[in-house]
Amino acid sequence: MTVCYNNSMSIQPILQLQNIHKRFGAVTALDGMNLHVVPGEILAIVGDNGCGKSTLMKVGCGVIQPDQGHIVCNGKPLQGLQPKEALKAGISAVYQDLALDPMRDCAGNIFLGKEITSFTFFIDHKSMRRKTEQLLHELSIHIPDITQPAGSLSGGQRQSLAIARAMHEKTPIMFFDEPTSAMGVRESAKILDLLRHLREEGIAVIIISHNLFQVFDVADRVTVMAAGKKVADVLCSESTPEEVNQFILRGRAK
Ligand SMILES: Nc1ncnc2c1ncn2[C@@H]1O[C@H](COP(=O)(O)OP(=O)(O)O)[C@@H](O)[C@H]1O
Ligand SMILES: [Mg+2]
Repeated sequence: MTVCYNNSMSIQPILQLQNIHKRFGAVTALDGMNLHVVPGEILAIVGDNGCGKSTLMKVGCGVIQPDQGHIVCNGKPLQGLQPKEALKAGISAVYQDLALDPMRDCAGNIFLGKEITSFTFFIDHKSMRRKTEQLLHELSIHIPDITQPAGSLSGGQRQSLAIARAMHEKTPIMFFDEPTSAMGVRESAKILDLLRHLREEGIAVIIISHNLFQVFDVADRVTVMAAGKKVADVLCSESTPEEVNQFILRGRAK
């Protein structure tokens, strides 16, 4: 499969999810869903609550195994994908439920599972805090007291921290599930800038969002889902938030 943009460039998708089906008991979360993304593109996934966006992302990261369908990364099929293999293949995600440890501070969360140790093999908290401060500064993320446990930060600050952790370990394919839902306007704008930087670095960025104005601000293309299926796939330069909203509403009426 190649994707044509403006009839001039043909780019190979870095990730394809093909004909993905997933049921949870009586609920059909994904019903033959297809998705592709190319390097250096910001793809938005939109759709009503419960249409399967988060489930699709989790399938792409190996957190949920599909009942049917194929995951192809760099042209190679990935069978029985698990999170560790997905990470090895270059796929990472910031989850909607964030997966932070509420008891650990900012540094403890950024370095979770890969703590810096001193020559005596003790965890080097000082170095970790210094590196965390530096990282947050580079990302223009403001958290007044980084020694607070993550559980006592505001929703927006927790989202910023989860994004900082992802930026600390960038991968060629990065999913973000509703990354700014708890953020104010200014904080959100900073995160959108970070996503643009990732695009410039050639990373394939997939953002799930319900904010269509934000989607049209940052994304190159939008995939619209309804009831576990793709109902539209449009370039932002050739569509409008109103048109995409219509796709979502029509999908819901089916
Ligand atoms: N672990 C699960 N167990 C049972 N049902 C689930 C589970 N995860 C998702 N679902 C159901 O699958 C459907 C799609 O959910 P989800 O992918 O979270 O939607 P979205 O992210 O678009 O809001 C919903 O009906 C949801 O209730
Ligand atoms: Mg969701």
